[in-house]
Amino acid sequence: MTFLITAGPTREAIDPVRYLTNRSSGKMGYAIADVAASKGYRVILISGPIDSGVDVPDGVDYVPVESAGEMYAAVERWIGSADVAIFAAAVADYRPVECMEQKLKKEGEEMDLRLVRNRDILGSARDVFLFNGVLVGFAAETENVLENARGKLLKKGCDMVVANDVSRSDIGFDSDENEVVLVFREGEEIVEKASKKSIARSVVSAAMSLEGEM
Ligand code: PMT
Repeated sequence: MTFLITAGPTREAIDPVRYLTNRSSGKMGYAIADVAASKGYRVILISGPIDSGVDVPDGVDYVPVESAGEMYAAVERWIGSADVAIFAAAVADYRPVECMEQKLKKEGEEMDLRLVRNRDILGSARDVFLFNGVLVGFAAETENVLENARGKLLKKGCDMVVANDVSRSDIGFDSDENEVVLVFREGEEIVEKASKKSIARSVVSAAMSLEGEM
């Protein structure tokens, strides 16, 4: 049994020294990788740059990437080996239209930064990568959490979406705990606030049950 897991943020370069990113620490995705590896499964962990000090779990195949484009290519390369794919990464939806070769100089009081949409990696799993294993997405929401998560489940062909409310500072991005709702094609399961390791156990266990049903 092989798990492919994406984790962490991506960095979208503006110039040689600047980039766009977000507050993902990698803790949620790394905890899932750790739980799956400790159960003896093969784990391919594709991770954006982490500076939260969280360690790469023992025994995983670690694929470091920087940008959403690199994460897309790594998932495309490895997803064919996976039985279960869990997308916990906070992938940038947009990147600068171009990365300047030289450091940008300041000019004037305002500047415009033009962005272009990144490809949706999770959204490519079924249609582009032709993945037919258990597909698990996350939904990072600040409002209408369940409704938006169910929309993502249907639109991206997921078997399960892990919904978290990222408007709260005590859970979600860069915290040690999370509180999630596991959204299935039929039904939902609330997982009360707990350490990310404990939430990861619930996610892996639900994914394994779905795998058993396939
Ligand atoms: O890393 P931590 O600090 O521990 O924080 C954990 C977390 C809050 C990042 C995590 O729990 C979480 O919610 N991850 C998903 C973040 C996100 O970008 O969600 P989204 O609702 O914008 O995206 C929906 C899904 O599509 C996600 O599975 C995401 O990985 C995926 N996606 C999004 C855009 C894109 N271009 N490609 C993708 O694969």
